[in-house]
Amino acid sequence: MANCCLENSESKALLDKLDEVIDKYKDTAGPLIPILHEAQGIYGYLPFEVQLHISERLGIPLADVYGVVTFYTGFNTKPKGKYVINVCLGTACYVKGSENILDRFKTTLGIDIGDCTEDQIFSLEACRCIGSCGLAPAVMINDDVYGNVSPDDVESILANYQL
Ligand code: FES
Repeated sequence: MANCCLENSESKALLDKLDEVIDKYKDTAGPLIPILHEAQGIYGYLPFEVQLHISERLGIPLADVYGVVTFYTGFNTKPKGKYVINVCLGTACYVKGSENILDRFKTTLGIDIGDCTEDQIFSLEACRCIGSCGLAPAVMINDDVYGNVSPDDVESILANYQL
């Protein structure tokens, strides 16, 4: 395999784990999804090189692997930060200005939706509803829920994770 994230010795150890997972499932019915789940557990996400390796080892087109990875929201093609920020854009939050909150997170962190900060501390997502409509507009960071958020709260919220 000729690619950056699978070349050094640490990556070789991860690749060995991935090969063990592939060997475990390859002769079972419908091996792709369980392999992808465990591969994401190993790497934290599913980079192109990992998808390519899985497609080669299973003898299936890369397009099929990519199709499954991008179909299910549980699979990530980009690394996630230590803290995943979910800004709710569901109806209750949206009508109370959650898009402005999302914009403030973007400008403060210098990243877009789906991206991760360079130090891999934060990643930013938008979601439909986090089940806290009574607190709209709401933001969730990992398991922490913040309610009645305004754009001016963004910096102080982020400060809770930068100790
Ligand atoms: S719509 Fe935002 S928490 Fe439900």
